[in-house]
Amino acid sequence: MSLRDISKEALIGTVALGVVFVTGYFFGKKKSFRMSISKSHCGGKDNPLMQYVLNHSMREHPALKNLRMRTMEHSWNGMMVACEQAQFMANLAKLIKAKKAIEIGVYTGYNTLNMALALPDDGVVVACDISEEYTSIGKPYWKEAEVEQKIDLRIQPALKTLDDLLASGQAGTFDFVFIDADKESYDHYYEKSLQLLRKGGIIAIDNVLWGGKVLNPAPEDKDTVAIDKLNKKLHRDARISLSMLTVGDGLTLAIKL
Ligand SMILES: C[S@@+](CC[C@H](N)C(=O)[O-])C[C@H]1O[C@@H](n2cnc3c(N)ncnc32)[C@H](O)[C@@H]1O
Ligand SMILES: *[C@@H]1O[C@H](CO)[C@@H](O)[C@H](O)[C@H]1NC(C)=O
Repeated sequence: MSLRDISKEALIGTVALGVVFVTGYFFGKKKSFRMSISKSHCGGKDNPLMQYVLNHSMREHPALKNLRMRTMEHSWNGMMVACEQAQFMANLAKLIKAKKAIEIGVYTGYNTLNMALALPDDGVVVACDISEEYTSIGKPYWKEAEVEQKIDLRIQPALKTLDDLLASGQAGTFDFVFIDADKESYDHYYEKSLQLLRKGGIIAIDNVLWGGKVLNPAPEDKDTVAIDKLNKKLHRDARISLSMLTVGDGLTLAIKL
């Protein structure tokens, strides 16, 4: 049957059905994409036990929740830290009475805000990122939570900021560092952070399992190689005690001895 044999009505009907189908498919996709993303950040939609954990432990500040919702509208929302991981790090910071923290890789600033909320009034989070665009998404929420005065945002390569902090005599003065930027620089971030940290201070390193890619015996991509190499180095590093946790995408805690 050629196109000419089909009645005009039928053709319009078919096209309309196609539009409905495609639109439905698109929105359906988009929704399920959002849902699956939100699960990894604070939802546990397809994992009842994880949902139970979140239901029975999350105490998200309203501004943090608003920032998370806003971040979910952003194309790169997969970069956001998991909310239960952020809450855990806030508790760690409080436990060691942290006053000075560094966030290496801010994105929309979910964990930056989380840390700022955990620190005392005279605390500071030095927030390192190269993207004005991503970080400005977070600023209104830092204000909403009334902690923006605790956040020292520096838009330049994080290595430069860490060097600036060392040059200004701040070695040994930081309590908590979260490393969560470009993976190839992880070892440099770790070494400089260790200098900036006081004894008993904590470096938390994100994505140390890299979606399971660290299991590959001969990884080719540079990110996996860098992460696996650092994991091996930390295991035998006598300057720290450590734990590797399976929270989020893998989180290593290195405590300076
Ligand atoms: C995984 S995201 C950080 C997520 C964030 N910790 C959170 O709480 O949601 C990584 C960020 O690192 C930033 N980044 C990449 N290379 C960088 C560099 N050389 N120096 C500083 N930031 C960098 C990116 O712009 C991006 O915003
Ligand atoms: C978690 O809370 C949601 C919303 O209240 C509820 O629908 C769900 O059944 C809860 N799941 C578990 C495992 O507690």
